[in-house]
Amino acid sequence: MNNAPIGVFDSGMGGISVVRQIRQDLPHEDILFYGDSAHAPYGTKPTEQVKELSFAVTRHLLSRGVKAIVIACNTATSAAAPDLRSSFSLPVIGMEPALKVACGRGEGKPQNVLVLATSLTLRERKFARLVEQVRGNNTIHTQACPDLVSLVESGKVEDRDLAIKTITSYLKPYDLNSLDSVVLGCTHFIFYRNYFRQILPDSVAIIDGNAGTSHHVRAILEESGNLADRPDNYQGQVTLENSQNTKELDLLARHLLEAPLPR
Ligand code: DGL
Repeated sequence: MNNAPIGVFDSGMGGISVVRQIRQDLPHEDILFYGDSAHAPYGTKPTEQVKELSFAVTRHLLSRGVKAIVIACNTATSAAAPDLRSSFSLPVIGMEPALKVACGRGEGKPQNVLVLATSLTLRERKFARLVEQVRGNNTIHTQACPDLVSLVESGKVEDRDLAIKTITSYLKPYDLNSLDSVVLGCTHFIFYRNYFRQILPDSVAIIDGNAGTSHHVRAILEESGNLADRPDNYQGQVTLENSQNTKELDLLARHLLEAPLPR
């Protein structure tokens, strides 16, 4: 049993979508979230630089006494997860685009899947290996969507017209009616889920890795004897920190944590 907080980090605000999920699934856990907005986006940076940034954030979270690290960022996971695991002894839980789930939905019928993520995630070996593993007869398209990251970071996710226009332009090259699913392979994109639902045909499933990650966090904490031991009525505390320590970002982070997803 361990009542220290779970440390969660992202390049910025996207990881708050993962905090929402963990908070819902593990209500007895305290969470310390660190958004590295001063260095966002990670997805357009060289891999080595994202690795260094991920190490710096992890060291900070360790200095704050966390019991595990959740990399709430597909990009930082691709760049740094194996090295973080071999450098630190606490559990490090990462994320990847939920392509296994997307390809597994067909019950044998080949799936036509579009994965949306960052350039770094899509160009890294981790993703290439994942594709190799699940490709079979499935068709897998990939699309980087950097503007969807910057809209969240600049507090514009609720500008519906702008968001819909931006998403539509990224989806333009694809025959949407032929798709079986779209994978939201970047934690920033979760905030656009309702917009995607309005744009995509009903037959296209929208899949993300947040619930899977939260399950994984529970399993790892359970296995390592690190789940919190708290009275039933305890409400886990969420602390939000950001490398760009401004009032605006603090308000934005709080809003993204508490408000319903934009429609
Ligand atoms: N939220 C991050 C992810 O899941 C990346 C966003 C960025 O480019 O910084 O990949």
